[in-house]
Amino acid sequence: IKKYGYQPCVNIGTAGHVDHGKTTLIQALTGSWTSVHSQELKRGITIRVGYSDAAFYKCKSCEEPLGYSTTPKCNNCGKESELSRVVSFVDSPGHESLMANMLSGSALMDGALLLVAANEKVPKPQTKEHLLALQTLGIQQIVVVQNKVDLLPYKEVMANYQDITKFVKGTFAAKSPIIPISAQSGLNIDALIGSIESTIKTPERDEKKDTVMHVLRSFDVNKPGIKLKDIKGGVIGGSLTQGIFKIGDEIEIKPGIMNEKKKSYEPLLTEITSLGTAAGIVESVKPGGLVAIGTKLDPSMTRSDSFIGSVIGKPGTLPENSTLLKLEVNLFDVAVGITEDIKVKPIQSGELLRLNIGTAPVLGKVTKLKSKNIEIELRRPACIFEGGNVAISRRIDERWRLIGAGIIG
Ligand code: GTP
Ligand code: MG
Ligand code: MG
Repeated sequence: IKKYGYQPCVNIGTAGHVDHGKTTLIQALTGSWTSVHSQELKRGITIRVGYSDAAFYKCKSCEEPLGYSTTPKCNNCGKESELSRVVSFVDSPGHESLMANMLSGSALMDGALLLVAANEKVPKPQTKEHLLALQTLGIQQIVVVQNKVDLLPYKEVMANYQDITKFVKGTFAAKSPIIPISAQSGLNIDALIGSIESTIKTPERDEKKDTVMHVLRSFDVNKPGIKLKDIKGGVIGGSLTQGIFKIGDEIEIKPGIMNEKKKSYEPLLTEITSLGTAAGIVESVKPGGLVAIGTKLDPSMTRSDSFIGSVIGKPGTLPENSTLLKLEVNLFDVAVGITEDIKVKPIQSGELLRLNIGTAPVLGKVTKLKSKNIEIELRRPACIFEGGNVAISRRIDERWRLIGAGIIG
């Protein structure tokens, strides 16, 4: 565990087409490779959302962007730098079949880096689809990153840069800076950090509001064969959007688990026994960065991300579990996730859709339809916050494709 003494204050996501270098960039910035599962290593792609933290430093004597680094010693002049911010990265998978995971991770992003590989035609399908996903979820602070510039001669890099500029102009990220880098050789990373520091602001958070944590991961941290008395309770990872948690807090997890007898979901009550962040083991956590909370739950319950999509708060403060989702919908003109753009047809009554509500991907059937307002019966209950953004996907050519955005009414 790295120790900066501070919990990260902002979650920065990655977005972009498969293999454009998202995880390589996060490694360049944080020193760790976030794709560690056996399938990911075998196939060379990111599958689950990864996360890792970094501290950004700024040298007082060097001009921008030279003085930015991820170490307290200035890369340019060698003098001591000042800490600028501790940040958390949420690394998305780029493969077109993994949009659900990308959308879950995006629910926790305050800003994002859209990576575009310099040696590919602009834009590739997930360059477009991920950018739409960010737009759908209201993530407006975006830095566009032209990666792999080491692969091409200068002239071709410049031509590609023009293509990226043209593409970005026609999108909601029109005002975003575009920073050329090589993640692999660490080229221009100081300029990228400078751009992140000026573009992606730390959001204002209200620690006095009721605590809300969105879950992205859950684990059983015990090694096989451990003695019963040494077993640690289930661990749940995610990010707070408001409020704080302290060790000893009673918490409620929604939607909870299926009660097989009653055939319905029941919220779970437990207690926080430990808290971990990039700053190490701590007494309390606040919004910003990924946190891990230790609980008294049976660790077999939290194994292999079984709690992804859950919401955690203090008992009695979260919205009721519900299977009724009311949305005001804005459909895109075209679905962009495949090589050929496909016109998005209107939503039909009875149609099955996939909704990403917070970090939860949930299937649901359209039961009512009145111009932009639709009602959906979810297959399993979710903890639904009024005013929240929902990403709407539909099955096109055997795959779920992003077709629009909804606001919870
Ligand atoms: P997914 O998560 O599967 O979407 O991929 P990704 O965007 O995380 O890409 P990843 O970081 O796994 O990199 C894909 C390939 O591109 C790897 O072989 C990297 O070594 C290579 N790569 C990444 N950045 C650079 C770069 O700046 N220059 C060069 N030459 N290769 C790079
Ligand atoms: Mg990756
Ligand atoms: Mg890859």
